[in-house]
Order: sequence, then C-alpha cells, then structure tokens
Amino acid sequence: MNQKVITILAIESSCDDTSVSIIQDEKILCNSIASQEIHKQYGGVVPELASRAHQQNIVPLIDTTLKNAGVNVKDLNAIAFTAGPGLIGSLMVGVSFAKAMALSLNIPLIAINHMQAHILAHFIDEPKPSFPFLCLTVSGGHTQLVLVHAHFTHEVIGKTIDDAAGEAFDKVAKILDLPYPGGPLVDKYAQNGNPNRFEFPIPNMDGLDYSFSGLKTSFLYFIQKQVKVDANFVANNLADICASIQHAIVKQLILKLIKAAKQVNCNQIAIAGGVSANSALRKALEAESKKRNWKIFIPKLEYCTDNAAMIAIAAHYKYLSGEFEEQSIAPYAR
Ligand code: KG4
Ligand code: ZN
Repeated sequence: MNQKVITILAIESSCDDTSVSIIQDEKILCNSIASQEIHKQYGGVVPELASRAHQQNIVPLIDTTLKNAGVNVKDLNAIAFTAGPGLIGSLMVGVSFAKAMALSLNIPLIAINHMQAHILAHFIDEPKPSFPFLCLTVSGGHTQLVLVHAHFTHEVIGKTIDDAAGEAFDKVAKILDLPYPGGPLVDKYAQNGNPNRFEFPIPNMDGLDYSFSGLKTSFLYFIQKQVKVDANFVANNLADICASIQHAIVKQLILKLIKAAKQVNCNQIAIAGGVSANSALRKALEAESKKRNWKIFIPKLEYCTDNAAMIAIAAHYKYLSGEFEEQSIAPYAR
C-alpha cells in the first residue's frame, strides 16, 4: 500500500513580504514571495501599509503558488502560518486567512514561530545539521545565539541587548542616505571597498550578548565629522565606508559565535535570518570553519530572508508530531 503523502500550504506575513509555499513531505514544491516596494520611499516598514499590501497580495499569491506547484486545494492536508513574532497587523492577515482556509477545507491548522522557522530552514536541503547545533540567528528584529537541541527545542544562550544586526545595517545605510532595506546595499557597495580603511569600535562585553547601538552612534558622529570637512565624503568613499562598517558588525557577530561554540563545545555551526545573506558574514564563517574544524551550515540566499518555505518545513515536523492549533489562536508581536 502507498504511504500517505503530506501536503501543506504555508503562509508567512510577519513583516513586509507576503510569502506562500507548498511542501510535499520534505520537498518544497513552490516558494513564492510578493515583496512590498511601497516602504522604500518611507525609509522603513510602515505597519499600516504593510498589512494593507498583505491583504491585496495574499489571495492572488496563494492561487499562483497552488498552480505552480500543480497542487489542488483538495490535496492539502494542513494550513500553516506564522503566529509571531512580527508586526501584529501583518501577522493578522496571514493568521485570519489560514484559519478561514483550514476551516473551509476541514483540515488542521499549524502555528509556527518565525524565529524557529529561520533556523529550521536548514532542514530544507541537504546536508542537514544533526542535533545539537549552534545557530547564529540574525535578522532585522533579532540577533540570537541559539543552541538547537531538537526541531522545536531551542535554547537562546546569547542575544542583543539593544539593536539587532539587521537593524544596525539598516540604520547605517539610512545615515548614508541609502534606501530601505539598506543591509543588502551596504553589502553590495562593500564588495569594492577596503574593510580596514576606517576603524569602528567593537564593544568589549562579557558573556554571549551583543550590542550594536554604540556602533551606530559612533558611525553617525564619524560621518557628521567627515562631512563637515568634505561635503562629498560619503559619495567619494562609499565603498570603503560600507566595507569598514560591515567589517565591524561581522567581527562582533563572529567573535561571540566563536566564544559560544567553545562554551557549549559544539562544532556544528549554522547561520540563519536575513543578515545570513551578507557576503562578508558568509566568508568569515567559512574562514573560521577551516581554522576551527567546524562543520558549517549556510542557507541558500532565498531561504535567508523572510520566506514561507521555512514555515512549511517547520510545519511538516509539527504535522508529524500532531501539533495542531485551535481556531481560537491569536498572533503575537513578541
Ligand atoms: O529575516 P529578515 O528577512 O526579516 C526579519 O525577520 O527581520 O531580515 C531582514 C534584515 C534587514 O535588516 C536587511 O537589511 C537584512 O536582513 N539583510 C542584510 C542582507 N540581506 C538582508 N543585511 C546585510 N547584508 C545583506 N546581504
Ligand atoms: Zn525573518
């Protein structure tokens, strides 16, 4: 007899990207994303505009995702969604749609934590890490060192005490007058720059926590001071400025990661979240892995930033253990 195939539709709507994915057993059939360009002109995500755009995008995106995956709604075994953390108005769109869809198809509902999903993206493709592994999760809202004991047993052993790494990238970019989200642009301009041209302070903190707010302030003062002397300082030195500040952010991320790996005696090291797309971070991790004999896990670029494929793989594991949600579930911002 044929074993039952498990087909799940997953929705991610925690911030400014609407994403829908379909997973069949452990295979992603389709992962669609509708990005919201509207926020660029405001220099950051405007929550109200984000929820409105999710509302406009979600139905057409689900339609095309089902079509591209070649899946009929009647073949779905469950509907999964991001329950939090994120912008409440954005989450609300995904949660409400998932509930209505599960109810109308009379199939289970699966709630997923966004940060756990970023980590579980490592289980989409081979090679998959075995437990336990250490994951540096770096996104626009979070920076955490997580010891992953099992699919859903995640121990946070370090975190930022102020800004997240992605936030630091975006704030630095804003000071340079680059559009939102600035992280990828800083990365792009840094490619042709000298990372050692300008020096920025790296906080000397005990333990495994991070801090990025001091770096952002010293960067602001540095730029203000230089612009007073030369009004074209930024334009004439953009590559070196980007490479140098990126170097300072990545250095702090890597130093604590090394410390954490030693402390928990773990040599399987992963990175996850939007900032794991950063080319300098990826290179630094590769360099450390050679020095320290680490087995490293770097996600494909499409699975670094927000996507529903990571929600889908997490939902697959919850389906296997029968962890379903009641219709009364509400999203959470934090
Ligand atoms: O995980 P994500 O897509 O959304 C959140 O859950 O926050 O992360 C978005 C963050 C933004 O701050 C963005 O600037 C940053 O990831 N980011 C990057 C790069 N790509 C995305 N930062 C630096 N270099 C990149 N290549
Ligand atoms: Zn994210």
